[in-house]
Parts: sequence; C-alpha cells; structure tokens
Amino acid sequence: MSAFDRLIIDRRSLLLGSTSAGITAVTLARAAPGASPAAPAKSFLRTAAPARVPLVGQPHPDTNVWAYEALVPGPEIRVRRGDRIRVTVENRLPEETTVHWHGVRVPNAMDGVPHLTQPPIAPGETFAYEFDLPDAGTYWYHPHQHSSAQVGRGLYGPLIIEESHPIQVDRDLVWVLGDWRLLDDAQISDDFDNRHDMAHNGRVGNTVTLNGKVPDTFSVRSGERLRLRLINAANARMFALEFAEHRPLIVAYDGHAVTPHEPDGGRVVIGPAMRIDLVIDMTGKPGGRSMITDRFYRGLEYRFVDLVYDTVPLRQRLLDAPIELEPNAVPEPDMRSAERHEVTFNGGMMGGMMSNRGGMGGMNMMEMMHSGKIWFINGVAATGHVLDPMLKLQCGRSYVLALNNETAWHHPIHLHGHCFRVISRNGIPTRYREWQDTVLMSPREKVEIAFVADNPGDWMFHCHILEHQAGGMMGVIRVGEPGSSGGTGLFCKPGQGGIRL
Ligand code: C2O
Ligand code: CU
Repeated sequence: MSAFDRLIIDRRSLLLGSTSAGITAVTLARAAPGASPAAPAKSFLRTAAPARVPLVGQPHPDTNVWAYEALVPGPEIRVRRGDRIRVTVENRLPEETTVHWHGVRVPNAMDGVPHLTQPPIAPGETFAYEFDLPDAGTYWYHPHQHSSAQVGRGLYGPLIIEESHPIQVDRDLVWVLGDWRLLDDAQISDDFDNRHDMAHNGRVGNTVTLNGKVPDTFSVRSGERLRLRLINAANARMFALEFAEHRPLIVAYDGHAVTPHEPDGGRVVIGPAMRIDLVIDMTGKPGGRSMITDRFYRGLEYRFVDLVYDTVPLRQRLLDAPIELEPNAVPEPDMRSAERHEVTFNGGMMGGMMSNRGGMGGMNMMEMMHSGKIWFINGVAATGHVLDPMLKLQCGRSYVLALNNETAWHHPIHLHGHCFRVISRNGIPTRYREWQDTVLMSPREKVEIAFVADNPGDWMFHCHILEHQAGGMMGVIRVGEPGSSGGTGLFCKPGQGGIRL
C-alpha cells in the first residue's frame, strides 16, 4: 500500500468499536493524490439510502425516493474557494453507486465514474472522496452509476463554493430544479430506461419540484437583491424561466463568472446538469405578487412559482453594488495553436424515423432499437462500461472541439474534469465566450468549444439527458498518457501560456 492509500472503515464497524464485530466492509480508497494539503479537509458524510419525502405535499402521500441523508435535494455542501473537502459516502442502497462532483475540476481518481476512475461502491461499503476546490461557483453532486434511475429517484445535492470576495446581495439562494414522473399515489414510476424515453427527449416527468417540493409561493421583499443559483438536477427536462416584470441578470454559467447580461428574450434556458447564477432585484410593490413561468415546451407552459411580496419593503432604493463575479483561474486556450477535432452526434427518432445520416455503425433502425444503441458520437454508440478513448489529448495543449448536432433533439453535453469556453454557435462567435462544463446544443446546431486539456486522466464526455447517455451518447476523452491519472493529480503545465493563478 502506498502512502497515499488509506483504509476507510464502514461507519457501523467503527460504532461497534471493533472491526472483528461482524460488519467489516472495507474499501480501499485512494486518497486525493498530490496531497500535501495546505489546510485540513472539511469533512462531510453523505449516506445514500431509501427514504420517504413529502414531494407533492398534502393530501398526497410521501414519495419513496433514494436520497442523501434522507433529504431531497441532499444537504448542501457550502465551502470556500481553495478549501479542501473530504466527503465520506456510505452506500445503503440496494445496488452499487458512486458520487460525481459535477463541474468540479477534481483529480481523476476522485471523479466518481464507476469502472473508469474507481470501482463502484457496493451496498454496505463506504468510499471517501477528498480533493481541493480550485474554483468558486455553483456545482452539484450526483451518482454516476445507473444515473438515470439513481438521479431520477432523488440522489443529488448542491455543492456551493463561495468566492473569496462574494458580491453583495441580500440573500444568496440555491434553487435546485427537479422533475419526477409520478403515479397517482405520488410514487415514482419505475419505467426507467424505456426505449421510448431513450430515443426521444428522455425521461421528462410530470411533476416539477423546487428544492424538493412542488412550489407554490416564494416570499420576497420590495427592494431586495437576490442571487439565485439555479441547478437543473432533472434527468431530461429543460426549463425556460420567465420572470414577468423582473429583469434577471446572468452572472455565471456552470459556476464560472460571465459578463452580467440579460438572457435572450428575458428567458433563462437551463438544460439538465447546467447551472445559472442570476442576480435579480425585487422591483415589485410591497404586498404585490408576480409569477415565474416555465415556457420551454410549447403548449406545456405552466406557472412555476409565485413571488409574493411582503407588505414591508426592505429598502426604497435598489442596491447599487457591483455584481460582476471574480473569475476563476482557468487556463486560457491558445487559439492559434489549438488543435481542432470534429465531433458528430447523431441517432434518435425523427418524426417516427431514425436519422439515417452517416456514421451509425451500419446499423438499421430496428437493430439500433433492439440493441439499445440509439445515440452515436462519431459513429459509436457506447453502452455499458466505456473504457476506450474516443479522443486522446496531450496534457497542457489547447483544443477546439467542433460539436455537430445532427439530431432533431436538444443535448446538454458535459465534459468531466475541465471547463471550456463556448466560442461559437452555428459559426457565429458567442458574445461572452462563456466558460461552461455542460453546453446545450439545439437541434442541428454546431457549437465550438475551446479549452486547455490540463487535467490528466480518462474523462467522460456525454449527453446529460441521462436516457441519452444510457442509449449510447457518451465517450471517454483521455488527457495525457494512460495511467497518468493516478499520478500527481496536479494540473499539468501548458506548453505555452502558463496557468493563470
Ligand atoms: Cu453530471 Cu458525467 O455527469
Ligand atoms: Cu442528449
């Protein structure tokens, strides 16, 4: 055992005071490498287990879910940029699990992808994740094992990393958006991974929740400034929130600062796994009421929640403090030397017909449906454990990935271990060159992203509509030499340009 290996003992055996007391499930957890932490880690425990929660509220019964610490969403982890955290995950589910720290630039061994970065955590076992947090922002954690069912049953929670110098607001709020497919008795329909969901827009449910409850009203005060951290934790549902007479400004995507701007058409569009931070001034009158609506799906618009104003204003004049967030120290891609790769997405149903444009491994529609290989990246539908890299990138080098969505559907595409600039859409440069870790592609859209491949290891690259992922829309991108993932875990030095720290 190397110095970095650490023995994690099941909590129950610790409680029993002796490892000879019967329950001695142990897991060899490789502690976050590169470790000589400046500060001791802040510790958290997250037990994943079945639970019952009041999702819909009276008179409906509680819903049987899977949850962290018996809560949906799981308890927030709120720390500071530069902190180190240690999260001990205990699996009391009837199946294997892992935890992925979505969007956080962790060392590969801490990324929580079963069979790729760690063995899955068996029922009864624990695993300790420990890593530094290089970036501030809004992130979340969720399983990466059988994700469609485990996330779909309620396993997810927010991870909030505060800036060293936060902006001035009256309330900093996290809004976790959830979506459920419930039966009449408020229980979760267990038709996970059915072929229809997989081949269309995924498991879009029938019950939307805000922080684990069907929302009704939300209390605000006139003159108040809110920071709203939206996290879309749904398997497949997209949201397009409109705030009536209010003027929300987007200040971050996926945790990373962006020039504050109003969303196009006043609509905040957020696909699965994406996060958007808003700053919004409560400009309504005391005692007033205003509706937030979701208009993503045409013909299925609905009232998301009502903002209800207190009769006493908080202040007469709006705050006049700056709202621009401090940027994270992400290495800037060198566009002159960046190597370009084309990545083509196809498959899925198209008005009753499979797309038959090239590169689907020569399969016909029936074969595809039958095999569960429904979505393809560069001609490959990856189902099961993906281990062979679709791309091998040099550590420290800049890359442009030209993503071509040749399907009739939206796809939020996520790259692990890195964030990237979204530099163009359909050939038109983006205005803010926003950093993201999950980019939403519209049907037939072409999106270019650019980044420095500076985090060594094998990283998942997949659609975050979890049924599309299960239907093949995933791959592995290797950064550096095989095995380098277990190495220092430190970001490698770019060939030129240097990491801005
Ligand atoms: Cu949020 Cu690969 O996942
Ligand atoms: Cu997709």
